[in-house]
Amino acid sequence: TITSIKALEILDSRGNPTLQATVRLDSGHAGTAAVPSGASTGAREALELRDGDPTRFGGKGVTKALANVEGPIAAALKGRDARDQGAIDALLCELDGSADKSKLGANALLAVSLATAHAAANALAIPLYRHLGDASRGFTLPVPLMNVMNGGAHANNSLDIQECMIVPHGFERFGDALRAGVGVFHALRTLLDKRGFPTSVGDEGGFAPNVSGTREALDLILEAIERAGYKPGSQIALALDCAASEFHDDGEYHLEGEGKRFSRAEFCGYLAELVGDYPILSIEDGMAEDDWAGWGLLTDRLGRRVQLVGDDLFVTNTEILSAGIEKGIANAILIKPNQIGTLTETLAAMEMARRAGYASIVSHRSGETGDTTIADLAVATACGQIKTGSASRSDRVEKYNRLLAIERELGADARFAGSKAFRSH
Ligand code: PGA
Ligand code: ZN
Repeated sequence: TITSIKALEILDSRGNPTLQATVRLDSGHAGTAAVPSGASTGAREALELRDGDPTRFGGKGVTKALANVEGPIAAALKGRDARDQGAIDALLCELDGSADKSKLGANALLAVSLATAHAAANALAIPLYRHLGDASRGFTLPVPLMNVMNGGAHANNSLDIQECMIVPHGFERFGDALRAGVGVFHALRTLLDKRGFPTSVGDEGGFAPNVSGTREALDLILEAIERAGYKPGSQIALALDCAASEFHDDGEYHLEGEGKRFSRAEFCGYLAELVGDYPILSIEDGMAEDDWAGWGLLTDRLGRRVQLVGDDLFVTNTEILSAGIEKGIANAILIKPNQIGTLTETLAAMEMARRAGYASIVSHRSGETGDTTIADLAVATACGQIKTGSASRSDRVEKYNRLLAIERELGADARFAGSKAFRSH
């Protein structure tokens, strides 16, 4: 039974304030969770409540959200059973009452929703992934989609595509896949250094060189895969997050770094050529969130060959996802709990995707904390894929380290999604 809820304004990996909540139970157990924050956010995401007071953190303070946690939310949840996540989250939604969580703030709601799950798992003396998951289905470690080259809104370089990721899928165990990805990361650093590029990193821990365009970025990554001793494609494939809403304007896709402008059909062609020339098995937000006609074209053209992931497109929202499924748009969804605001709604989006044959990829945000809840979420749901950054910066590697600990704890029961996670395309 919940006895108290406290919150703290902490810092995220970009030096912006964010919210951490601690839920305490009458058993003496407690659970703590912190919420992340995006930079290239979808327009239809649940609202992140910021103070707007320019004298504190440039207006980004979260003291109002904090007050909502310790005030109305704590009062409403006091005496409730923390094990009943569905009832807790329903109460949170009801208390907020708005469609976009703008009354209390999605950051306030999510911090409490996640902290409640942690508290319940602690009280039950089981790891979070067991509390959230279904032991009869088994526990599967996800393939990491590692963002080794950062661009777009995550770096101030010339790369228009926001994320160029490596996907170490052709391995037996998560630990082996991660180690391979780390090997490529280090080989890429050496290669960039040799070619005279800086080896400083962007928001998600990947390198951020001023490359001439997407192809040069992918060529460097492929060379790093080979230098690290792995086979491009069959062992380590590539994935992109275009975050195309960021460079879509008036029906045109404008790659400023490459100095090119495309119509939606031309941009589909640009992506199709990349898929033809590189071992790319996943493209996220290849079209802008408000360009559903473009999404239709892209899905017709590439939907049988590669995973097409809706991030800004679906914003972890079942209403939007169901419309996308109905129209046959995309074939996968990125899952970010803070886009929707509660754990239960996050799980509902994953379940809807699963039933429709859409893949789910559990994801971090570009602004992160040490919170590792998403690692447990990926294992609990056996979704098969996690996107949580490169192999540097503790805000990224904490999630990988948590997955290593889970794999060891599961021992012989640990499965790894591997190449099967991508078999349907
Ligand atoms: P964001 O980026 O957290 O800045 O929105 C991540 C993504 O687009 O996947
Ligand atoms: Zn994205």
